[in-house]
Amino acid sequence: MEVRLQKKVLIINGVERPFMCDPERETLSDALRRIGLTGVKVGCGTGVCGSCSVILNGKVIRSCTKKIAAVEDYSKITTIEGIGNAQHLHPLQVAWMNCGAVQCGFCVPGFIVSAYALLQENPDPTREEVRDWFQKTRNVCRCTGYKQIVDAVMAAAKVMRGECSIEDIKFHNPEDGEYYGKPVVRPSALAKVTGLADYGDDQALKMPEGTLYGAIVQPRVAHHAKILAIHTEEAEAMPGVYKVITAKDLLAAGGSNLMAEGQFHERSTVMTPSRKVFQDEKIFRYGDVVALVLAESHGLAREAAKKVTVDIEPLPEYLTYLDAVMPDAIRVHDDTPNIFAEQPVLKGVGMEDAYNVEEMIDKAPYVVEGSFMSTREPHLSIEGCVLQSYFDKDGVLCIHCKSQCTYSSIGRIGNSLGVPKDKFRIIMNPTGASFGWSTNAGDLVLAGAGTVCTGRPVSLSMSYEEHQHYSGKRCPAYSNGRLACDKDGKIIAAEFDVGMDHGAYSWGGDDVMTKPARFTFWPYNVPNVAGLVRVANTNHAFGTAYRSYGSPQAYTLSEPLMDMMADKLGMDPFEFRYKNIARPGETNINSYPFRQYPMEKMMDTMRPLYEKAVAEAKAADTPEKRRGVGIAWGGFNVTEGTTDSAEVALELGADGRIWKYDTWHNMGQGGDVGSLMVTLEALKELHITPEDVQLVQNDTKLCPDTGMAGASRSFYMDGNATKIAAEKLLNNMRKPDGTFRTYEEMKAEGIETKVIGRYETTTTPGLTRLDPNTGVGDPTPAFTYCLNMAEVEVDTKTGKTTVLKFTCVDMVGRVGNIDAVNGQAYGGISHSIGFALKEDYQDVKKHANMFGAGVSYIKDIPDDINVIHMPVTIEDGPFGSSGASEAFQASGHVAVLNGIARACGVRIHEMPALPAKVKAGLDAIAAGKEPEAPKKYFLGSDMYEELENIKENPVQYDSYNFYQPLGDADADRPF
Ligand code: FES
Ligand code: FES
Repeated sequence: MEVRLQKKVLIINGVERPFMCDPERETLSDALRRIGLTGVKVGCGTGVCGSCSVILNGKVIRSCTKKIAAVEDYSKITTIEGIGNAQHLHPLQVAWMNCGAVQCGFCVPGFIVSAYALLQENPDPTREEVRDWFQKTRNVCRCTGYKQIVDAVMAAAKVMRGECSIEDIKFHNPEDGEYYGKPVVRPSALAKVTGLADYGDDQALKMPEGTLYGAIVQPRVAHHAKILAIHTEEAEAMPGVYKVITAKDLLAAGGSNLMAEGQFHERSTVMTPSRKVFQDEKIFRYGDVVALVLAESHGLAREAAKKVTVDIEPLPEYLTYLDAVMPDAIRVHDDTPNIFAEQPVLKGVGMEDAYNVEEMIDKAPYVVEGSFMSTREPHLSIEGCVLQSYFDKDGVLCIHCKSQCTYSSIGRIGNSLGVPKDKFRIIMNPTGASFGWSTNAGDLVLAGAGTVCTGRPVSLSMSYEEHQHYSGKRCPAYSNGRLACDKDGKIIAAEFDVGMDHGAYSWGGDDVMTKPARFTFWPYNVPNVAGLVRVANTNHAFGTAYRSYGSPQAYTLSEPLMDMMADKLGMDPFEFRYKNIARPGETNINSYPFRQYPMEKMMDTMRPLYEKAVAEAKAADTPEKRRGVGIAWGGFNVTEGTTDSAEVALELGADGRIWKYDTWHNMGQGGDVGSLMVTLEALKELHITPEDVQLVQNDTKLCPDTGMAGASRSFYMDGNATKIAAEKLLNNMRKPDGTFRTYEEMKAEGIETKVIGRYETTTTPGLTRLDPNTGVGDPTPAFTYCLNMAEVEVDTKTGKTTVLKFTCVDMVGRVGNIDAVNGQAYGGISHSIGFALKEDYQDVKKHANMFGAGVSYIKDIPDDINVIHMPVTIEDGPFGSSGASEAFQASGHVAVLNGIARACGVRIHEMPALPAKVKAGLDAIAAGKEPEAPKKYFLGSDMYEELENIKENPVQYDSYNFYQPLGDADADRPF
């Protein structure tokens, strides 16, 4: 490849910088990053996210789409590095750190650069002007829900106008040493606001000589096809290409080429791992990978990847659950039926015979029914799959990556690569968020395969589009349900039949299906239940973890039915819910008491706000702009269940500080500050400050296994393990007179300065898995609760819905760090709004990038988000806390959908509520017709017949534990 360079001179951050560039291929962001300004972050790479924002001759631009050739010599450029540094922070940087505006931090440099330009132009903006500005500069933040970002700009502007000092906007250590609950700044925030956090792509630029650069080959020619041949010759012959790796190379290097898989459920029919590292026989979905090209540069690898072709024989493509379960559908995986697992739920009269519930509903005074579909929600983190892999001097395979489960990834991919467990080290890079997709280790194994097959260090960065097609998504669900009430509006029975589309691969499918089996009609008192949840393979993106894993699908069915029943009864939907929430002594659909009963208090707190909102909506309602208020209950479990465990280590260091070691994977949710908060609280007797704690995290060589970041478990599990470790350390340090030994004194007395704390849920009384025959069980020790209210406006001309205000009353136990918990709340709510209104990954062409997939910009999310935390102490939780993340994304989408129905009478059954869909409903109503609703879905067979079949064929089960490794997969538990 011929390369012609060009000399360029730019005035960057006030300094004249001559350098060479490639005018043909490089963008401004490429050039700036190559010369060391890696504070310029590239997320989408296509001009839709703003993370690469710089100021060019006084204007904010997105540098990833600006060709370097189009930038005139001696142009003035400002990047984050020119705005402030660790020694001299700009007020914007201080404000970002202290207002909770930093989560993953990937968007932060772009936002601060943009805000800097705004304040130059307008030193005293209103909140709405700040929002208008970021809308114009197209800055996306997927973590914060934007509110704390606007807070930060307002605070910094005040400092810059001289109305307060920089000290006034900083968190100061409390004199009484009471840190718990306070907005202690995240330890990782400083690196993020200065642009110095080296995310995966920044590490890639800093890899030593000898590194190979990878590009995946995703043929993207079919969703389902037989592979007849893979042609790599042309790519391999290209200068600079080192190797093209396919399945046969990995097999030759000793790998199994299978991703380890296990099943958690006795009713799973999956017998062999469903996923390969490199596909060689079949393409199961659009994003499948058949080869990895390794070359001397990323550019070369990408060029060569385009030359790899496949010959295929097309097979029938099943892109939804409904297609895959039709009687004439062929199997996606030859060795198992498309519906591969199922979980029944029986309660009350249903326990004896499910048909009793059907009969009870048939005869009930009031019955509503409906069918609903929730979408294949994409996570849309701004950073995608980016990683590095190499052998260290001891022959250990090291993978630097984004992972929510560093330890269990080893179990998942060890055999795939043929590398023994003790020859693995997984290390997290600073990461640009995940929200769940990085639980499955698929990208780790690709980079690892590159190193295993060549012995060379490998750097793999997928383009955003490649990542979007490669990563898993939230399972879409189709559901039919009925709800029955007596004449007083008390629920007497419910039935629900849910089909979850787990896409091309099975891993995790038997786990996710247990969520609708727990959270449908939660947290109400439903005395009689007949329910079934089934999960099937299709030819679409595989299902994976996503905040509030599996429960939004449940609320998509039950919360609209609650509203529909209220209408039928002529009751207010709030009052109908109030009447039916579970009170002490009443049980959940799994026939167990709720672990806590904060429901009534939460509704009492919401009631005046609801009444005010309804009155305001009524007053503001016009024929052009209809207003409505939607309510939805939600919640989620805490921990992975009956056999969850976590280890942490605490050490008194030679420097007199406390060193804390754990794998609380920090995806931006606050793994660093959460770990800090529980450590400060557990060691309060030592009167330590945040500066006295050094965190060492997320490196399997240095840290014990704290488990995955998921299931809202981290705070609960790490916190409890930290309490145990702290007690041990304090006992070791305590002298007979009650004072504490120094490091030197402990060493002199031969006392251990480093201790391990291990916590297991087996210590929680009464935990039991869901019975696979009846759904009876109580698998987790705590819950989190959210009552959501959305105030919406529908434009009747266009059908466009705007969420004007959102209120959430929650119960997450004692709040550990107010900024971090609020950040999870705002972030979760913003995803819920996007989920309700526009996010999707069903159309692989249209939804290939963040914009097309419907990511929410700042004006899509209301500034007016009000979160009220109920002060409840969780008995077994650390310091009274619970988990604090997933409930916030459980049901907010239904509050929005219920709000639309209240506003204009259009009930959205199949998400998202795109303007055209709402408009069609409005037009139908105007024409005096019923808006279109789906007929009862066919989910594979009649639900009652299937429940009868399950009853006649009970399975044996262990109420405490079940995990079955498949085939030659690693026997380690993958979660
Ligand atoms: Fe440039 Fe997204 S706009 S990276
Ligand atoms: Fe904004 Fe993560 S903090 S994208």
